[in-house]
Amino acid sequence: MQLAFCVPSFITLLLILSPNVIGVLTSQPSKHSQRMLRLSPDNNNQAKIVHDTALGTLYWFSLGDSYSETGFNASGTLPSVGNPLGNPTYPGWTGGGGANWVDYLTTTYNQSLTLTYNLARGGATINSSLVTPGQGVSLEDEVNTFLSKFANSPPSTPWKTWNTLFSIWIGINDIAYSYDNHGDRDAFTDILLDSYFKLVEPLYVSLDSDTKLPHLNRSPLMLTRSVSEQEKERSAIEGFNDKLQTRIDWFKGNHTDAWIWQWDSQAVFKAILDDPQSYGFQDATSYGNNPSYFWGNAYHPGGNIPDFNLIFPPLMIVIHRLATAHKIFAKNISDTLNIFPW
Ligand SMILES: *[C@@H]1O[C@H](CO)[C@@H](O)[C@H](O)[C@H]1NC(C)=O
Ligand SMILES: *[C@@H]1O[C@H](CO)[C@@H](O)[C@H](O)[C@H]1NC(C)=O
Ligand SMILES: *[C@@H]1O[C@H](CO)[C@@H](O)[C@H](O)[C@H]1NC(C)=O
Ligand SMILES: *[C@@H]1O[C@H](CO)[C@@H](O)[C@H](O)[C@H]1NC(C)=O
Ligand SMILES: *[C@@H]1O[C@H](CO)[C@@H](O)[C@H](O)[C@H]1NC(C)=O
Repeated sequence: MQLAFCVPSFITLLLILSPNVIGVLTSQPSKHSQRMLRLSPDNNNQAKIVHDTALGTLYWFSLGDSYSETGFNASGTLPSVGNPLGNPTYPGWTGGGGANWVDYLTTTYNQSLTLTYNLARGGATINSSLVTPGQGVSLEDEVNTFLSKFANSPPSTPWKTWNTLFSIWIGINDIAYSYDNHGDRDAFTDILLDSYFKLVEPLYVSLDSDTKLPHLNRSPLMLTRSVSEQEKERSAIEGFNDKLQTRIDWFKGNHTDAWIWQWDSQAVFKAILDDPQSYGFQDATSYGNNPSYFWGNAYHPGGNIPDFNLIFPPLMIVIHRLATAHKIFAKNISDTLNIFPW
């Protein structure tokens, strides 16, 4: 294993600053004058600039399950200028159809060239010994793919600690496949999270943990199940999220040299599902290939809708496409992580 290459010895951070406030953290970066600063904390825990360049190519390693997958094969065509997600053809194969949040952040909300290595795979669980993954690939396998192919920053993928982001959105299948099992779910969640954070360790360079599980007990699939089933899953998700927050806090406490963001997918799902119309969706339950549906299928937000306005000549009717769920996620992430150059 090439851990030496992917565990930085000091802090690295990507910051977007407008030139007149260099050295001062700002939450309102100028969209036109971005700088990439490499910071390290001084004794007073203030950021100290140790590197300052124009924003260049960024690398993003995305890990997770069908909520993030685009069908990328790490042995196939790698990301490059003009083809920032490598293979397959954009938007790739996504859980709910159409572009997903990884696609949008790579191509729409990026503020610099972002080369995205999306190792996420549908059905992924954290550890296949604990919960069998749906398609044979676990987070552990994804981490191993990163370690074996990319950790040593090969010429094909010359990422550096200061221009690279890792993201993980995992746990949905772990709960979905196990919430109904016998035994203490709470204790099992601890076992899952032990494994999760053992796997995060080698990635911690610049970690963005997309945390908190959304309310999948509110998915159309789960709504066809009994109220007690839904309640069981809800309770398992809440337990997972509470413990996950603690783990993230511990991880931050133990890695004060890493910049760690988290995005609360649960809050965004809740906001939309509680008031779908105000986000342009017909309701919280319909699913299929329709721009007014939140769900692309019974378990995945999405929709196989091209993301542009259609103009039909000669009538010249401009149809403003409603935002798809994943575009809303991507925008929310982009706005939430406003010191990272997306
Ligand atoms: C990935 O690509 C390699 C090389 O083309 C191929 O051998 C392998 O089967 C592919 N893996 C998957 C999961 O499609
Ligand atoms: C965002 O990514 C796209 C696709 O790689 C690229 O064409 C575009 O130039 C990038 N935007 C910025 C501001 O760098
Ligand atoms: C995966 O789970 C097995 C069984 O509990 C455990 O032995 C192994 O250490 C775990 N792997 C990781 C990376 O946590
Ligand atoms: C470091 O992690 C351990 C668990 O591995 C936790 O008990 C401890 O509180 C963490 N330290 C800090 C400062 O958060
Ligand atoms: C993200 O969405 C949540 C839930 O709707 C909202 O409370 C929050 O303000 C949003 N964040 C940003 C930066 O837009």
